[in-house]
Amino acid sequence: MNTTAVLVLTIAFCVLFALVAWCLVKLDKVHSLLFQTESQVTANLSRMEAKISSDLRQIESCATANLRKVESQATTNLRQVMSQTFATERNSFAQIESLFGLYKDLDFEFSLPHSRGFPASPDFLQAVHHTIKRLAPKVVVECSSGMSTLIVAKTLQQIGAGHVYSLESDRYYCDVTRALLEKHKVAQWATVIHAPLTATEINGKSFQWYDTSALANIEGVGAMIIDGPFGGIGSLARYPAGPQLFSKLQSGAEVLVDDYNRPDEKEMVALWLEQFSELKKTVEPCEKGCARLVKR
Ligand SMILES: C[S@@+](CC[C@H](N)C(=O)[O-])C[C@H]1O[C@@H](n2cnc3c(N)ncnc32)[C@H](O)[C@@H]1O
Repeated sequence: MNTTAVLVLTIAFCVLFALVAWCLVKLDKVHSLLFQTESQVTANLSRMEAKISSDLRQIESCATANLRKVESQATTNLRQVMSQTFATERNSFAQIESLFGLYKDLDFEFSLPHSRGFPASPDFLQAVHHTIKRLAPKVVVECSSGMSTLIVAKTLQQIGAGHVYSLESDRYYCDVTRALLEKHKVAQWATVIHAPLTATEINGKSFQWYDTSALANIEGVGAMIIDGPFGGIGSLARYPAGPQLFSKLQSGAEVLVDDYNRPDEKEMVALWLEQFSELKKTVEPCEKGCARLVKR
C-alpha cells in the first residue's frame, strides 16, 4: 500500500470518527431533551392530577352540602304541607260536625244555603245557637244578615220567645235573608232592617256605619252578633258597633264577634275593652275566630 492510500484511508477514518462522535453528541442532546420533556410532562400531569383531585373533592363536598340543604328544606316543606293538610282536614271535619249539629239541634225542614266564605262558618253559627239557647234573650241585635239571622230566629222559635233585629246595608241581601226566613217559617222571629251605610263620626274619626235610626227605641238587648258591615270598606269597619250600640246591652248580655282571627277585629275588640270596662272577653276556637264579650 502506498503512502497516498494510507493517507486517504487515515483521513477517511478520521472523518468517519468525527462524524460518529458528532452523531453521538447530537444523540445525547436529543436524549437529554427527551428526558427533560418527559419529566416536565410527568410533573405537569401530577400537578393536573392533584388539581383535578382537589377540584373533585371540593365539588363533592359542595354537592353533599347542597344536597343536605335541599334535603332539610324538603323535609321542612313536607312537614309544613302535612301539618297544613291535617289542620285543613281537622277544620273541615269540625265544620261538618257543627253543621250536622245545627241540622239536628234546630230540626231544619229544608236544607241550608252555603255557609263559610261571606256567610258565617258552621262553628260560629253553632256558637250563636248555643248562646241564644242558653241566654234566651228577649232582644237580639245583629250587624249583617244572612245565615246567622236564620240560626238566631230558629233558636228563638225553639225557645218560644224573643226577637232578632238584623241590620243589613244591602237591599238585595235584605230580600235574600227575608226569603230565607220565610222559607224556614221563622219570619215572625226576625226583622231584617235595611240600614244603608252612612258617614258616621266617632271621636273625630269618620266611619261608614249602618243607619241605626230604626233601633232608636230598642233597649234591653240580651245578645249581639257582630259580623258586618263587610270588612273591606275600611279599617276598623265594625268598631262603631261599640259606641253606637253597646249602651243598649243589658247586664249579663253577650256579644259574639265573628272574624276575630283578623288583626283589624283584634284591634277593634282591644279598643272596646279599653272603653267599656264592664265587658269581659273570652276567645273561642272558631274557623275565622270568635270573641265573646260578656257584660258584667
Ligand atoms: C260577612 S257577611 C255577613 C254574613 C251573615 N252574618 C251570615 O251569617 O250569613 C257581610 C255582608 O255580606 C253580604 N252577604 C250576605 N250573604 C252573602 C253571600 N252569600 N254572598 C255574598 N255576600 C253576602 C251581606 O250584605 C252581609 O251584610
